[in-house]
Formats: sequence, C-alpha cells, structure tokens
Amino acid sequence: MKIQDKVALITGAGSGIGQAVARELAKRGARTVVLVDRRDQVYELAEMINKEAGRVVAEPKVGDATNDTFRTQVYDEVTAQQGVVSICVPAAGITRDALAVRLDKESGKAEPYSVTTFREVLEVNLIAPIYWAIEMVVRIAESRAARGLKRWSPEEGIEGAVVFIGSVSSQGNKGQISYATTKAGLEGAAATLTKEAMFYGVRCGIIHPGFTDTPMVRKMGDEYIEKYILPYTQLRRLIRPDEIADAICFMISNSAVSGELWADAGWHPPA
Ligand SMILES: NC(=O)c1ccc[n+]([C@@H]2O[C@H](COP(=O)([O-])OP(=O)(O)OC[C@H]3O[C@@H](n4cnc5c(N)ncnc54)[C@H](O)[C@@H]3O)[C@@H](O)[C@H]2O)c1
Repeated sequence: MKIQDKVALITGAGSGIGQAVARELAKRGARTVVLVDRRDQVYELAEMINKEAGRVVAEPKVGDATNDTFRTQVYDEVTAQQGVVSICVPAAGITRDALAVRLDKESGKAEPYSVTTFREVLEVNLIAPIYWAIEMVVRIAESRAARGLKRWSPEEGIEGAVVFIGSVSSQGNKGQISYATTKAGLEGAAATLTKEAMFYGVRCGIIHPGFTDTPMVRKMGDEYIEKYILPYTQLRRLIRPDEIADAICFMISNSAVSGELWADAGWHPPA
C-alpha cells in the first residue's frame, strides 16, 4: 500500500511515538496527516511538519480521544475536506502503574488496584483505539458501497491500514495490571478486525514496541531506566521513536506483513 497521497489519522500525535509516526508519514508523502491529541501542542507540531514538508499536510485536532462525539466530528470534517481516511494509527495511551495488590506491612491490610483507575486506562488504551480504527473502516465501507463495490478483491489494491500500538508489557509486567491488560486486549481487537475488515480491503496489525525514549518512559526516572530497563534490552539503550515510526510505516506499506510485529530491541526481562 502506498503512503503517498493518502489521508492518515494519528491519535496521541502530540508526543513520542504518535508524533514520530505523523512526521514520518508526512515525509513519505501522505496528502494529509490528521494530528489528534488532547494537548494543544499539536498546533505547533502541525506548523513544524508543514515547514518540513514545504506544503500544508498536517491538520491538528484537539480533543479527548475517548470522546465519541469528538471522534465522529473529526472523521466527518476530515472526510468532507480531505476525503476518506485510509491510514489509522491510534497511538494515544496512558500508564497508571501500581501493584494489583499492595500490602501495608505495618497494618497487615492489603489494597487492590483502584477499579476507577483501571476503567480510565481501559477507556484510553483499549476502547478508544479500537473505535478510532472501527470509525475508519465504517467510512471505507460506506465509500465502497457508494461506489457500488461489494467484497474487496486483490485487483483493487489495498483500501486502508490500521496499526494498533501494543507493548512488550502485553506479556505481563509487574506494576502494570491495567496497562498490560489493555495492550494484550488490542491483540484480540487486531486479530478480529483483520479478519472482518479485509472484506472492505482494510488490513490491520499491531506493533509491540519495547521501551522507547518518550515522555511516558522518561517519567519512570533515569535510575529506574538504568537499573530495570537497559540491562534487559539487547541494544542497552532506549529505542528511538523514529525507529518505531519506521517499523509502523513498514507495516502499513508492505501488504504481505500481517499480524504482530515485535520491535522490542531484544527485551528479555527477568521473571
Ligand atoms: N514509550 C514506550 O516505551 C512505549 C512502549 C510500548 C508502547 N507504547 C505505546 O505507544 C503509545 C504512545 O506512547 P508514548 O510513549 O509516545 O507516550 P507519550 O506520553 O509521549 O504520548 C502519548 C500522547 O497521547 C496523548 N493522549 C493521552 N491520552 C489521551 C486522550 N484521552 N485523548 C487524546 N490524547 C491523549 C497525550 O497527550 C500524549 O501526547 C501509547 O499507546 C503507549 O502505550 C509506548
């Protein structure tokens, strides 16, 4: 699938991996890159991307990715102004790390992980990315119906691609009960959507990045990174966001690639 001249939509585009993907898609000739984020730094990013590209390519949209009205509004506006979105990378994500059960050694009382926090992480990391992807498939299905097309056939060329952002934590990670659950959940969503959406010519995959140098990881602190991350990473450094962006563009543009891609820099954590 060619990235050239396509309309792409990235959530969490204001920072880290989402930002790197947006820049890379613009560099590779996407016609429009929609930058969705709840923080208004996407305005500045849009200016930077447009400057780098020497054309107007970035379209910033500020709002909460978990808000259904915002999501449909963004798709309505973009479809009307730029045409159907055919690349979706829903990268917005959060961590709310704590042990599943925390025992207070003094009192002997044990506290479970907050269920309210668990639901918050589910909304942002699992339900929202799935619905940003489904919304793209909805628009592609309708556009095909309007063109009188039925079941997709290979001669037509690929209509669209979704890449979900999983994580090495999908295999389990201490202190990440909610985060790990959402990232493992995305595997099920990707595996199901890939089977269903191919009817409309849409491919769907999931990338599992290892620890990548973004604000999400930096907030763990240098000491934690040195002690608990780098020794268990084959490269003995954090992955650069542009390395993950490159892998995502590979997944989008090479239609023979399906399923999951592990871009984990040789992550081999202790038990
Ligand atoms: N950094 C890593 O090591 C790593 C590893 C594996 C997977 N990931 C995943 O990659 C994705 C990007 O992570 P990152 O490291 O770039 O994080 P980041 O914190 O640098 O960026 C996340 C962006 O998402 C936005 N966001 C969060 N919640 C939102 C919401 N409800 N609505 C709109 N925007 C929202 C934030 O404003 C931020 O700009 C996440 O899904 C994360 O789980 C990161």
